[in-house]
Amino acid sequence: MAGYPWTSLLITGASSGLGRALAEGAAAPGVVLHLSGRDAGRLEATAEACRARGAAVREAVLDVTDAAAMEGWIAAAGRLDLVIANAGVSGGTGDAVEPAAQAAQVFATNVTGVLNTALPAIAAMAGQAPGADGVRGRVAVIASLAAFVASPSAPAYCASKAAVQRWAEALDASERRRGIRLHAVCPGFIRTPMTARNPFAMPGLMTPEQAARRTLEGIASGRLRVAYPWGLYAASRLVGALPPGWRSALMGRLPAKPAGDQVPRSSGG
Ligand code: NAI
Repeated sequence: MAGYPWTSLLITGASSGLGRALAEGAAAPGVVLHLSGRDAGRLEATAEACRARGAAVREAVLDVTDAAAMEGWIAAAGRLDLVIANAGVSGGTGDAVEPAAQAAQVFATNVTGVLNTALPAIAAMAGQAPGADGVRGRVAVIASLAAFVASPSAPAYCASKAAVQRWAEALDASERRRGIRLHAVCPGFIRTPMTARNPFAMPGLMTPEQAARRTLEGIASGRLRVAYPWGLYAASRLVGALPPGWRSALMGRLPAKPAGDQVPRSSGG
């Protein structure tokens, strides 16, 4: 028994990294998991691992940028206690100008893809009765500590994560009045395919399992912002609080990319 108060969860990007660890972390007898990803083989491997832990799993090969497909999948899922909009791509520039196609892909996946997941989920949850934790449903968006730092080496990525972090935190105030909660999850560095080729030191690097546990425990405790590890979060807030001109000058002088999930990468799950 995983020990979380949810019996029905939906997770995007479950075929890899943090998404897979979240699915396995929540898997337990009596739990139904709706999992999506783009790679059928890797998604099936996640599903099998979750079934081995006793969960019932329904998997769907889907692209989060396909709004109609996402809406249909979520509407057909039935009751949903927790939806995690996890699918994302990183995009760094190696200190060059960010290519237009990369910026467009990052925003389409990390912002529009999150909305394509969260909005139909919120609409469905509004008609649900409260669950074991007294809430009709919870939607968690996987942002990043990159939300707090305007890194010159990953403009679209930082902006996309800031957008979903702010959106979730702002929306929670009104949605909680009708019994729905939102959570902005802001992890530091996690050892996944996204960060595998980062050529720089990643302070506080976590395993996907550690990050998944901190994410699920933070959501279960009702925290609006689930940011970790603490030291890197504090450093990100500090750098983010500098006057923009100072910050830009400081970061422009750094020899390498300063924050981890930012090297050019388009995950293929
Ligand atoms: P990953 O590359 O291992 O997994 C990303 C997942 O998103 C894959 O399953 C991939 O198939 C899916 N995905 C990407 N584009 C998609 C699309 N258009 N439609 C459907 N699925 C799509 O990377 P990781 O690290 O597990 O990333 C998961 C989330 O965590 C991302 O949102 C990422 O930005 C975020 N994050 C990662 C950190 C890290 O250090 N790895 C740190 C902070 C946040």
